[in-house]
Amino acid sequence: MVGIYFSGTGNSKYAVELFCSEYNKDSRAYSIEDDEALTAIKESDLIVFAYPVQFSTIPKILRDYITDHKALWMNKKVFLIATMGLFSGDGAGILGRLLKKHGAKPVGGLHLKMPDSIADEKALKRPLQKNKELVKQAEQKIKESVNRLKAGNPTKEGMGPLYRLAGFFGQRAYFGHKTKAYSSKLKVDTDSCIGCGKCEKVCPMGNMAIKDKKAVSSDRCTMCYRCINICPNQALTLLGKRVVEQCGIEKYR
Ligand SMILES: Cc1cc2nc3c(=O)[nH]c(=O)nc-3n(C[C@H](O)[C@H](O)[C@H](O)COP(=O)(O)O)c2cc1C
Repeated sequence: MVGIYFSGTGNSKYAVELFCSEYNKDSRAYSIEDDEALTAIKESDLIVFAYPVQFSTIPKILRDYITDHKALWMNKKVFLIATMGLFSGDGAGILGRLLKKHGAKPVGGLHLKMPDSIADEKALKRPLQKNKELVKQAEQKIKESVNRLKAGNPTKEGMGPLYRLAGFFGQRAYFGHKTKAYSSKLKVDTDSCIGCGKCEKVCPMGNMAIKDKKAVSSDRCTMCYRCINICPNQALTLLGKRVVEQCGIEKYR
């Protein structure tokens, strides 16, 4: 088994690494940004994916990865882990369906409620203790789910028509368009930006650059929130107007 993930603030990475180590101490997880991931995928017949749900769908960068490498998925067994702040309906099922189109066989799914990565929306923020509890609960769910997968009775969260209806009417019908293309909406507060270049380093899309000692963003943002959560001067925003709380899994473990 191999783990494959995309992760903005570390939740999905943490989840799939734990899943892999519980399943088998030799199993490893790779980011889709890691060149070695492709070889690992080719060599494994069971792939566990993990990713953050965005508006009840898959981040654009992950969708593109799946379609850019569509020849890889034929006959692979796939298990989908969707991490989310609150709700996704069919967060696991939506990637399962995309992979199935390319010949994969979805065997199960897991939904994990974890700290919300959207740093600039006050309504989504929870107290630190609550986020720590969510991570503990997620760990417990992962262990149970691994045991069920090993026993041949995998969890199927987010898979099936009722979950699909919930994902569509709960979110995608209204917000799904936001992930159809990369975003050009990332904003830089040039008064606060100190031009340190951290955003440029962490961006998985090459969307950030430093020009004249200030960060500038382009139109290729996959909304992972890495840069917003790491900016030392809270100079970046995307969905909201002001950074409320910067997050990262290391704060909540
Ligand atoms: C642009 C964006 C949209 C999101 N949409 C949803 C959503 O529809 N439902 C939900 O429960 N969480 C949503 N979230 C929260 C993330 O899915 C959640 O925090 C996830 O665990 C982050 O994982 P990561 O740390 O691996 O990036 C969204 C986050 C972002 C950045």
